[in-house]
Amino acid sequence: MLTDNHGRVINYMRLAVTDRCNLRCFYCMPEDGLNWLSRTELMSNDEMLRICGLLVHMGIERIRITGGEPFVRKDIMQLLTGLSKLNGLKELTMTTNGVLTAPHVAEMKALGVSSVNLSLDTLDANRFFTITRRDEFANVMNTLDELLKHNIEIKINAVVMDGKNTQDIIPMVELTKDLPVSVRFIEEMPFNGDGHVYNGLQWDHVRILNEIEAHYPTITKLVDPLYSTSYNYHVPGHKGTVGIIAAYSRTFCGSCNRIRVTPQGTLKNCLYDDGVLNIKDLMRSGASDGKIEQELLKAFSNRPVDGWEAERLRVEKTGVHESMATIGG
Ligand code: GTP
Ligand code: 5AD
Ligand code: SF4
Repeated sequence: MLTDNHGRVINYMRLAVTDRCNLRCFYCMPEDGLNWLSRTELMSNDEMLRICGLLVHMGIERIRITGGEPFVRKDIMQLLTGLSKLNGLKELTMTTNGVLTAPHVAEMKALGVSSVNLSLDTLDANRFFTITRRDEFANVMNTLDELLKHNIEIKINAVVMDGKNTQDIIPMVELTKDLPVSVRFIEEMPFNGDGHVYNGLQWDHVRILNEIEAHYPTITKLVDPLYSTSYNYHVPGHKGTVGIIAAYSRTFCGSCNRIRVTPQGTLKNCLYDDGVLNIKDLMRSGASDGKIEQELLKAFSNRPVDGWEAERLRVEKTGVHESMATIGG
């Protein structure tokens, strides 16, 4: 079993395949987008498959594909095909905004993608446009339908933003009445590519829960799965469940089982660190699998204890807040 210097198991990897996105969620990036990475800065499918193969060999059991938006990569289905053949990989999942996803759902199911986290902050087309600055609501809802039709586990991620979508909280909980989905409300984090000023956390996990409990007094707490990022709840009689992710409050660091690989091929031990090892450069300099494994193990024996420590170290070094699209959530 792969463990870190704090005795935490490492068995889950988040691979961000691109920094690009076809939406412009204001909490994530500026209207003009980011300074996108060039194609040579991005990893190729072969490079990503090599990294994943090595890490699965070392003990990674679950891989989640994130972005940016994974489906803006034209070769994404080939990557999934390659990953689906990795011996030892127990779970392949994706996080997507759903704009381009619908036509691929049947093939994803066939390749063994077992669960999809769909970013959707509102059920209102106008508010969707205000938040994402793109008129794509219908396509996202179409993806939701396809995922339901193909029986893929669905978690809907909604970032809760003061003055923007708090009126959606109750309607989104209501979605769980008839749909077998998990609707998860996320505390907004100050990762916006400097596109707007972060006003401090207005809706923390306690306030979100209070709002929900006021409308659903019978809501019950569920036992959270191991390594869950969310606190999970169920309204009696509903098919789906409700989750709250205290992303800003970082309540789950103590059992953090996850590592990240950025689109540039950099290993991150924590969402909040600055990248601790450039695996892509190592590969391109001709390093052997053995050498790369050795460097990875060195990095895993030096993980920060929590996001607060990682952030302190990063801000000391760089002073910048990145966009979620470049770090892959
Ligand atoms: P699963 O448990 O596999 O469903 O994944 P997840 O909940 O981690 O995945 P998802 O991509 O849906 O991320 C949901 C949100 O969780 C992200 O937007 C982040 O806000 C938050 N999150 C995920 N990982 C971390 C982390 O390591 N630290 C912090 N602070 N937030 C995280
Ligand atoms: N705060 C919280 N969540 C964010 N996401 C993107 N930017 C932020 C932010 N600033 C979420 C998206 C997506 C997930 C991967 O990250 O909504 O669901
Ligand atoms: Fe794109 Fe996701 Fe960022 Fe929205 S949050 S702009 S969907 S990467």
